[in-house]
Amino acid sequence: MKILLVYYTGTYNTRFLTDGVQAELLRRGHEVDRAEIRRGAPVINTAGYDMIGFGYPIYGFNSPLPFNNYVKKLDILSGQKYFIYKNSGETFAMNNASSRILLRRMRRRGAIFAGEYHFVMPYNIHFAFDKNFVREILFYNKKLLKIMADDLESGHAARIHSNPAYNFASAIISVQKIGGAVNSFFYRADDKCTLCGLCVKNCPEDNIKIKDGKIEFGRRCDMCMRCSFFCPADAIHIGFLQGWKVNGDYRLNELERLGPPESPYITPESKGFYKCFINYFKDIDERYARLEDRGGSPDKTDI
Ligand SMILES: Cc1cc2nc3c(=O)[nH]c(=O)nc-3n(C[C@H](O)[C@H](O)[C@H](O)COP(=O)(O)O)c2cc1C
Ligand code: SF4
Ligand code: SF4
Repeated sequence: MKILLVYYTGTYNTRFLTDGVQAELLRRGHEVDRAEIRRGAPVINTAGYDMIGFGYPIYGFNSPLPFNNYVKKLDILSGQKYFIYKNSGETFAMNNASSRILLRRMRRRGAIFAGEYHFVMPYNIHFAFDKNFVREILFYNKKLLKIMADDLESGHAARIHSNPAYNFASAIISVQKIGGAVNSFFYRADDKCTLCGLCVKNCPEDNIKIKDGKIEFGRRCDMCMRCSFFCPADAIHIGFLQGWKVNGDYRLNELERLGPPESPYITPESKGFYKCFINYFKDIDERYARLEDRGGSPDKTDI
């Protein structure tokens, strides 16, 4: 198949995931192109692709606004097959509603649903995940990638079920609409800033500049956290979300290479925030076992 991956990323978790999707599909002999969404990115021509994969991080139980705006501009033909690979820091059921705008848009255009997959990636906001937890997550993501690729090849369209209550609630909690309009007034860099220019160069909205020897934020912030997450001096204040700021690269490639932790991070006794991962990992294990029974994923060397 000729497959196009269209994705949005803030702190590069979705880009990392897209690298994995691309590698798995290439390994199976498919042709893969990709398009990363950022301000000014050209609207890609989708003609000639057998399938489109949409990747996005969940923001407040929704897909990101720049992602929605970009997809709106795509010329999707009736009969076009598509799948979704979304990711977020946890698997609370409210996240199930996050694709509702994309699904509605694709339905209206007569596109054919080929599956939806929810990957977990470490939080880029709220709190930093423990490295062993990240290693375990990345290990499970590799299994889910293989399940997804096998489904896409066999025509099994996996669904994530939402309900009207979740859809309604997630429509109300569109943090980015508030964030973009209000919170961006409170972004600032403090005295620790060395004017290295990294945030200016990398902001996907070109929303940061250096003026009169100081960092200045504009008013079109996506709340993607890229600037504050990667600032080497940890100098950026992110307004009312300051208490939830996470600063520092997880170094995902290195953690992935290490493989899963020596003893499981999530156990049947895991509680509180971590409880939702018990069933999430169990579900992946069960689906992966079925895949092996069917003779899928013959190459397991990288798991
Ligand atoms: C503004 C904002 C809102 C978020 N909302 C959620 C959420 O509702 N649920 C969740 O599990 N993770 C949430 N996250 C965490 C991200 O979805 C997660 O860290 C993701 O992997 C980031 O991907 P990226 O690096 O490609 O941007 C949020 C992150 C941001 C910045
Ligand atoms: S990345 Fe941090 S240190 Fe570098 S210019 Fe931006 S705020 Fe200053
Ligand atoms: S200002 Fe920072 S959080 Fe806002 S869009 Fe740019 S990089 Fe993302």
